[in-house]
Amino acid sequence: MNRSKTKIRVGILGCGAIGSRIARSIKTECEDLACVTALFDINPAKSASLSKHIPYKNVVQKSYPQLLDHCDLVVEAVNAPDTHQLIRQALMAKKDILVMSVGKLLDGESILKLAQNQGCRLLIPSGAIAGIDAIKAARLGKIHHITLTTRKPVYGFADNAYVQEKRINLSQISKETILFDGNVKEAVKCFPQNINVAATIALASSAKDKLRVRITTSPEFKVNSHEIEVIGEFGRLVTKTENVVCPDNPKTSYLAVLSAIVTLKQYLGQVRIGT
Ligand SMILES: NC(=O)c1ccc[n+]([C@@H]2O[C@H](COP(=O)([O-])OP(=O)(O)OC[C@H]3O[C@@H](n4cnc5c(N)ncnc54)[C@H](O)[C@@H]3O)[C@@H](O)[C@H]2O)c1
Repeated sequence: MNRSKTKIRVGILGCGAIGSRIARSIKTECEDLACVTALFDINPAKSASLSKHIPYKNVVQKSYPQLLDHCDLVVEAVNAPDTHQLIRQALMAKKDILVMSVGKLLDGESILKLAQNQGCRLLIPSGAIAGIDAIKAARLGKIHHITLTTRKPVYGFADNAYVQEKRINLSQISKETILFDGNVKEAVKCFPQNINVAATIALASSAKDKLRVRITTSPEFKVNSHEIEVIGEFGRLVTKTENVVCPDNPKTSYLAVLSAIVTLKQYLGQVRIGT
């Protein structure tokens, strides 16, 4: 990255809920150090619409390669089947990249290596969970077990293929009920919407094989929550977040968006505590 006196040029790949929020916050949160110089969305109406809500001119790009030509840092916020390839493309172009689709990195050893070889920074926000800093520290010793328990309201599973396949009758559930209990690989397959949280823990701990994922529901649950328990040489850690949804996309937790913005601020050197 070119850390000269000029501002860091940020390219937003994917102008949905997260990409839009980040683009808008660059003016308010990082004005002295960064500016948006490129927007690209596969749906041109999305980038055109976002461009009207940010104070930067002529930033809409016609293609991803064009976006890469116009930025120093890529913010990846797409919901694409080929996200893995998009991340690789940014690194091949020697761009730093903030990755929101963390689930795409789960089997991404080669991407981490590519970032290293290219001398690029690959930034992963903590997302909708707490304790990632401590998990990263804990991995320097031995980690024995990690359990992620995700609790969601019943309606959150209405269109889940795994629940339908297992013939779980959601309307019959009257108390906390375990829908899934297994490893991260299976969890990601059966509950793709839980993929980012589990993948973030797996990457931070470097202990994918020791991560157990439990997904439960109850009529009592009104918000999505994530509870993490880690047991290791360091002792025991328990964290829990109860997440409000992002006003722009009810499938995204607001904290996930805020964590992306603070990661960007850390990258720019604006936040020093805990970095
Ligand atoms: N890390 C976390 O904690 C966390 C939390 C929530 C969501 N996410 C992930 O962040 C990503 C974005 O989430 P969102 O809520 O903003 O989704 P969204 O659906 O609101 O927006 C995604 C945008 O990507 C665009 N897009 C799709 N394919 C594209 C391509 N090939 N090139 C350019 N644009 C493309 C879509 O048109 C859409 O505008 C998703 O992958 C989601 O899983 C991560």
